[in-house]
Amino acid sequence: MNPYIVGLVVPLLFSYVLRRKGEKKRGLPADVGGEPGYVLRNYRFTTPVESHWEGITTLAELFEQSCKHFSDNRLLGTRKLIASEMEQSPDGRSFEKLHLGDYEWLSYAETYAAVCSFASGLVQIGHGKDERVAIFADTRAEWQIALQGCFRQNVTVVTIYSSLGEEALCHSLNETEVSTVICGHKELKKLIDISGQLDTVKRVIYMNDEGISKEISLAEKSTQWTISSFTDVEKVGQENPVTANMPLPADVAVIMYTSGSTGLPKGVMMTHGNILSTCSAVMTIVPALGSKDVYLAYLPLAHVLELAAETVMAAAGCAVGYGSPLTLTDTSNKIKKGTKGDATVLGPTLMTAVPAILDRVRDGVRKKVDTKGGLSKKLFDMAYNRRMNAINGSWFGAWGLERILWDILVFKKVRAVLGGRVRFLLSGGAPLSGDTQRFINICLGAPIGQGYGLTETCAGGTFSEYDDTSVGRVGAPLPCSYIKLIDWSEGGYLVTDSPMPRGEIVIGGPNVTPGYFKNEDKTNEVYKVDERGMRWFYTGDIGRVHSDGCLEIIDRKKDIVKLQHGEYVSLGKVEAALSVSPYVDNIMLHADPFHSYCVTLVVPARQALENWASKQGISFSDFADLCQKQEVVKEVQGSLVKAAKQARLEKFEIPSKIKLMPEAWTPESGLVTAALKLKREVIRKTFAEDLSNLYA
Ligand SMILES: *[C@@H]1O[C@H](CO)[C@@H](O)[C@H](O)[C@H]1NC(C)=O
Ligand SMILES: *[C@@H]1O[C@H](CO)[C@@H](O)[C@H](O)[C@H]1NC(C)=O
Ligand SMILES: *[C@@H]1O[C@H](CO)[C@@H](O)[C@H](O)[C@H]1NC(C)=O
Repeated sequence: MNPYIVGLVVPLLFSYVLRRKGEKKRGLPADVGGEPGYVLRNYRFTTPVESHWEGITTLAELFEQSCKHFSDNRLLGTRKLIASEMEQSPDGRSFEKLHLGDYEWLSYAETYAAVCSFASGLVQIGHGKDERVAIFADTRAEWQIALQGCFRQNVTVVTIYSSLGEEALCHSLNETEVSTVICGHKELKKLIDISGQLDTVKRVIYMNDEGISKEISLAEKSTQWTISSFTDVEKVGQENPVTANMPLPADVAVIMYTSGSTGLPKGVMMTHGNILSTCSAVMTIVPALGSKDVYLAYLPLAHVLELAAETVMAAAGCAVGYGSPLTLTDTSNKIKKGTKGDATVLGPTLMTAVPAILDRVRDGVRKKVDTKGGLSKKLFDMAYNRRMNAINGSWFGAWGLERILWDILVFKKVRAVLGGRVRFLLSGGAPLSGDTQRFINICLGAPIGQGYGLTETCAGGTFSEYDDTSVGRVGAPLPCSYIKLIDWSEGGYLVTDSPMPRGEIVIGGPNVTPGYFKNEDKTNEVYKVDERGMRWFYTGDIGRVHSDGCLEIIDRKKDIVKLQHGEYVSLGKVEAALSVSPYVDNIMLHADPFHSYCVTLVVPARQALENWASKQGISFSDFADLCQKQEVVKEVQGSLVKAAKQARLEKFEIPSKIKLMPEAWTPESGLVTAALKLKREVIRKTFAEDLSNLYA
């Protein structure tokens, strides 16, 4: 038969058979110990997976095996810096602009040699057997080399978000008694600032950056530290090799400090076995993952999602090219005009993303289409709707000739933003809005796998499979985890609820970590071991399970507030609904048991609001001035009410009063976490006066 006809008939039959069989069950009931609840497992595995690779039990073994197997393949790629210059913006601030060249690659064999040298060098410069190393730097090739080097010497690595504040940084280094810190240029600056408070640090290894010599001489003058360059450590190790001191599966590989939404960060201990089981599970969910794949690495490696993703890529023989959020695309902030972004140069086939970044991609594309207007916009809207219909049911459009036509006419250009070759996107860190998921699905033509997991479960939990076209859900359990829902009666969520069981999400499996470093109380509060020896983590998230065994996150225990008259308000749910308003860039709902209504702080979407204002002929001196105007507040509030009605919110959930905040909420200002989640406590404290005025 003509292959073209086969191409049409096979999906036809397939879809027919699927429909006849009813929906695909992705999560199945399971028999486990511990507290009673509604339990699910992955449909392909009866017991949780510990290792995907025969005979491999630690990350050190995994990496060694992979390097030997894929020796001549490309592994770590870094872009060559051609020039860096400062540019003045109209308002007088200056920005760094980079001109970056092609990727330069280390093969698997070369990377392995570098890792072995670094591991030996670390011992040679005096890092002791039971001491810990901290890696405090942006994501880059040396980060991975240092990590693997430490693993080969059974050295535990402490990871710290590079955007963490001073207090948190001091706390993490001090609590883990780190003796060697590996850092980049701007992190060295931060370390020098707090050097007086770091009692245990003895050595600093800096990654070779241009212009770092000033900080080095400052550190040499003002601290007692021994300062070495990354390349020097490698060189010493290469000349004086030390035998590897391989870890065991239960040894702690990483202590990861996560930016909590309240108080000081907590260090989550992760064993080699924990990370290995998550990685094993991820291996099974990315379709046809292999040595042809190219992965663009740009999220913080201090985040478990990126750490697990890169570990998987290196185990599967992929090429990992490094980039950064500020140089990702041709139009990214730090890219010099007329030069190319990371994605364009690398042409990745796989990427991970946090929802905030995907939202930005979506808004960027929408804006471009809107400003072009005319025929382009009509064509785009038409293509988008056709594809949406196709996904919604009439599958022919999704697979047939029409798809190819729209791709050439419209979507090819959108796809080019991320290099044009992306075939799979992994999203995690926070729930992705259904709207963004659809938009990215349609425009990139690439499926998004959405994961749900926590640092405490080593990113393992659930995962929505590539062939699941529904939105707003996080999928079935990963092969490494059980998911259990348990009753939370105070909040009104029960596993006996109809039509779906609901409750607090508890995760069990080999990916569940031993707990928080030096914090037994907190560990015992949220981790439990059942009578069969299985570890469970109590997430505090509220979920419900659909009939096909997929999980949907619907709430968070601590984000539910009981109002004066006894109604419960779920802050996250309401914020998500209100965010649909085109005027919202960021929003925090505030509810209070002493009042019967909610209020909200809104960071408005500047462009949208200014456009509206100029259409109305409203004059203003600057954005802060605009945000104070009565008619502007009224317009935004009207739009929030509209969004609330669309989402069928209750009357008490709709904010009665709002305040517009002209300054953006960024991780640097400490108002949101590095993953761009709201830090409610901090925002409440910072804007306490504004909030109380809203109740006045
Ligand atoms: C690895 O290091 C930890 C902590 O220093 C130690 O408890 C453990 O026994 C070591 N493992 C091996 C195999 O030496
Ligand atoms: C560092 O830790 C020690 C105990 O381990 C404590 O006494 C000291 O106050 C801590 N210093 C800082 C700056 O946190
Ligand atoms: C597709 O289905 C979704 C949800 O079922 C709905 O919101 C949307 O309006 C539909 N789109 C089209 C174009 O029919």
